[in-house]
Amino acid sequence: MSKFDHKDLLGIGQLSIEDIELILDTAESLKEVSTRDIKKVPTLRGKNVVNFFYEPSTRTRISFEVAAKRLSADTVSLSASGSSMVKGETLIDTARNLQAMHPDLIVLRHPSSGAPHLLAGKVKAGIINAGDGINEHPTQALLDLYTIREKKGRIKGLNVAIIGDISHSRVARSDIIGLTKMGANVTISGPPTMMPLGIEAFGVDVVYDPIEAVRRKDVVILLRIQLERQSAVLFPGLREYATFFGITKEVVKRSKKDVIVMHPGPINRGVEITSEVADAPYSAIFDQVSNGVAVRMAILYLLIGGS
Ligand code: CP
Repeated sequence: MSKFDHKDLLGIGQLSIEDIELILDTAESLKEVSTRDIKKVPTLRGKNVVNFFYEPSTRTRISFEVAAKRLSADTVSLSASGSSMVKGETLIDTARNLQAMHPDLIVLRHPSSGAPHLLAGKVKAGIINAGDGINEHPTQALLDLYTIREKKGRIKGLNVAIIGDISHSRVARSDIIGLTKMGANVTISGPPTMMPLGIEAFGVDVVYDPIEAVRRKDVVILLRIQLERQSAVLFPGLREYATFFGITKEVVKRSKKDVIVMHPGPINRGVEITSEVADAPYSAIFDQVSNGVAVRMAILYLLIGGS
């Protein structure tokens, strides 16, 4: 039996430190498959994975698809616009119809926080949360943890800054939960209008000035402004945001010499990150994307791969 005793992956909060270490260690051994000439192992042959994406996605959708195929699982993709939800079918009825076709896993991205949790109680298949509203994006946090551990050799004791639209970022929430659980010291920064009330209860320091926030950090994680999730105008304009919160190479110089800069993507060049930072040698943005495949392979394997 696998030591990973979960039907679903809904959030980082449900995972113990041992679970997270098991996922990262499994990803480390599976990463090599993507470098082979024949990028496929038979581990999940005969298993079915449905990728059900209600919101646009490049990295998460494609990397789940690639991860499943590298493990020889069969995959089906469904988008909201291509499903019968446009004809009025509910999320639960759609999921029950999918369940009738006996998938092993449903990977769900949905604009409503809690949608994957709702489905997890309604269908037999495992549910993986691929991002739900402003709540969580657990697989992004796991690939971020993997990338930090790969680059720095450890997570515990590292000083990490997360800068941007914290309120509307499911990545920020999952990263904060994951990083603090694994023993990192987390500082968050961004405009006060994009800072959730009571966020200190998550065990983070809040430093509004980004220049101060990056000071002597090992890792700087930048976030996109989630305009699609904001119901009010939270800052005067993108130019003001770039001026006061955009991270330039001059700002990065305040962090440690061997800092890495990360971003879950999609990046908005010239807004939260300049091109010279995005394309710098210390940028780990494409490492995150590569590691996303290995981490999602590990998650698929641990959820439905058996012993
Ligand atoms: N990081 C991330 O979730 O990117 P996508 O929206 O492209 O999947």
